Amino acid sequence: MANPDQTETAAPPRPELFDFHGVSMTHHFTDNWDNVQNFQAKPDDILIATYPKAGTTWVSHMLDLLYFGKSSPKRGDSLPICERVPFLEINNPVFAPARNAKDNVVSYFHFARMSNAQPEPGDWPSFLQRFQEGKMPWGSWYDHVKGWWEKKQAYPKLLYLHYEDLAEDMDREMDRVCSFLGLCPTEEERHQVKERVQFDAMKKNSMVNYSTFSLMDFKISPFMRKGKVGDWKNHFTVYQNEQFDKEYQKKMMNTTVRFLAEI
Ligand code: A3P
Repeated sequence: MANPDQTETAAPPRPELFDFHGVSMTHHFTDNWDNVQNFQAKPDDILIATYPKAGTTWVSHMLDLLYFGKSSPKRGDSLPICERVPFLEINNPVFAPARNAKDNVVSYFHFARMSNAQPEPGDWPSFLQRFQEGKMPWGSWYDHVKGWWEKKQAYPKLLYLHYEDLAEDMDREMDRVCSFLGLCPTEEERHQVKERVQFDAMKKNSMVNYSTFSLMDFKISPFMRKGKVGDWKNHFTVYQNEQFDKEYQKKMMNTTVRFLAEI
């Protein structure tokens, strides 16, 4: 999976975090902020609003296949995911995939180790500490999850998808997605999408596994790393877990968002 070009060249310097309108960011994702600021949404645009490492690629691939898989069957294997579902900040109903905080921070840590577009991650304890302080690119997980949850209460055209629910029952979640979007795929089409969004299929597909991206070092960690619920148990110490739970309760106190810190 490693990009052969990368093995010869030194990694580029890691970017620094800076405060961008009150959120920690790196320049990779703010240089084209005009795109976000001036974006004119059309009524049927779909926006996917995730915190990093919560399942962005999974949901993007599924939606693209549901919309275009029938008319362009080869699209999902020939066009990179970021061309099919572009990042607004790099180059619109709203989807908010979210993931339990503990698996999310573990996934983010491994991603920060392998992506040269991320600041230096440091060691696991210091990364975990900074995650809780919101000193991450795209800011605080807690603010992101609460913010979109509050928007969902006021804005019916927003579907909140949980990573854990996708992992538990893809048929049920695809039903929710299709009825939210008013899509009626045939049984055969649904089956095909389901097969293609399985972890193993996506891990092999270079159009979604980011293996063509020069800023990522797959010798350190693959982008499609484990795709599991509960991997945090292999990373958190008992003390880290207790401390994290306490902080979690404090930070999420005033929200009804269904999140399983104890997963
Ligand atoms: P892990 O690092 O825990 O494996 P994002 O796309 O938002 O960056 O999220 C990446 C995370 O989603 C990674 O988690 C990746 O493995 C996981 N993921 C991507 N596609 C998946 C799938 N089809 N099934 C399960 N997990 C998936």
